[in-house]
Amino acid sequence: MPRTDRTLAQVYRRFGEVGAAGTSPLYERVAVAVSESGEALRAIEAAPARKRHPTVIFAALHDLALAGRAPALGAAYAAGDADAAARAAIGTLVRMTDSVVDRAARRPVRANETGHGAVLYPAIAEAARRAGANAIGLIDVGCSAGLNLTVDRVGIAYSNGQSLGDPSSPVRLSCSVVGDRPIPSRAMPEIVARVGVDVDPVDVTDPDEARWLRACVWPDQPERIARLDAEIALAATAPPLLLRGDVVEVLPEALARVPADALPVVTTTWALSRFPLEGRVRFLHRLDEAAAGRAVAWVSAEGVGVAPAIPTLGDRHASGHSIIGVAVFDGSALRAEAVGRCWSRGRLLAWLAGR
Ligand SMILES: C[S@@+](CC[C@H](N)C(=O)[O-])C[C@H]1O[C@@H](n2cnc3c(N)ncnc32)[C@H](O)[C@@H]1O
Repeated sequence: MPRTDRTLAQVYRRFGEVGAAGTSPLYERVAVAVSESGEALRAIEAAPARKRHPTVIFAALHDLALAGRAPALGAAYAAGDADAAARAAIGTLVRMTDSVVDRAARRPVRANETGHGAVLYPAIAEAARRAGANAIGLIDVGCSAGLNLTVDRVGIAYSNGQSLGDPSSPVRLSCSVVGDRPIPSRAMPEIVARVGVDVDPVDVTDPDEARWLRACVWPDQPERIARLDAEIALAATAPPLLLRGDVVEVLPEALARVPADALPVVTTTWALSRFPLEGRVRFLHRLDEAAAGRAVAWVSAEGVGVAPAIPTLGDRHASGHSIIGVAVFDGSALRAEAVGRCWSRGRLLAWLAGR
């Protein structure tokens, strides 16, 4: 076996035995089978080096299955038949190499980005309360598909019996509350503008883009796919305005889209870690500059120490949980507070701020 095959084989075997193990029986089996197939590995080598990772190639294969172009693979995934999936994946790689490579190269793998409403909703309502706002314009930075921008249109059930949002929504989120402090029950004010900012935004009304989002979810995670489908469908009924570009360049335009009598509430969820430190500080300066003319709020859910100016509560960096920050910029004053901690991207929430 040539050396490149050996290295790629090791990557796939490790992904099967470690990366997917315990999470995805399908990908576990497919990855190990690919690692043992010289033909499959040679097909993968047709992709640019940085696009050969199992998460990328498997998303491309899943996309072909969802598009009906790899029916045997689609059937094996639907049946949860790992051996059939392994055979079909190798067959698809070998017979449809160009299609797989084209899909892998075209788009980045998108992280599952649903279900953040349970942490965002109370924090946005709290930011509006602190700024005395009766109407808000939401600007989600690093928005990807902009699913955070439907935060007021989802129904959220907390494990302590509280609920927020729209009880009749087709999107139902649940969240475990950690600790004794209740979640603020205040409804958020009317949202009069919804703007997403991203260097590479995803338009969920484009069927190819929406299918790629689904393809990036592992096929034996039906609950995640169902939640993503419901959120995509909801977002598509009233698509947000998507602005493409670096936040530092585009933020002034996004803020200008919020009517003067509404409070701009900028949100970031697990996005700032993708910015270089200097970019995060410039983002903060942009918010500060905007506040010379009007009050601006920023709600963040980011890893400990990632969001500049948001207190870390003495928690260790990279400790596995995230801090929910609420900052209100008003003239020269900045009031920033950590209002909560959350785990598992918002599936568990500990609210900290006083009521
Ligand atoms: C990890 S994703 C987070 C997506 C989403 N906010 C979530 O909670 O799942 C980070 C997003 O930030 C975007 N991004 C990275 N650098 C950016 C920049 N300088 N300006 C705007 N968006 C950026 C990326 O394109 C990507 O969609």
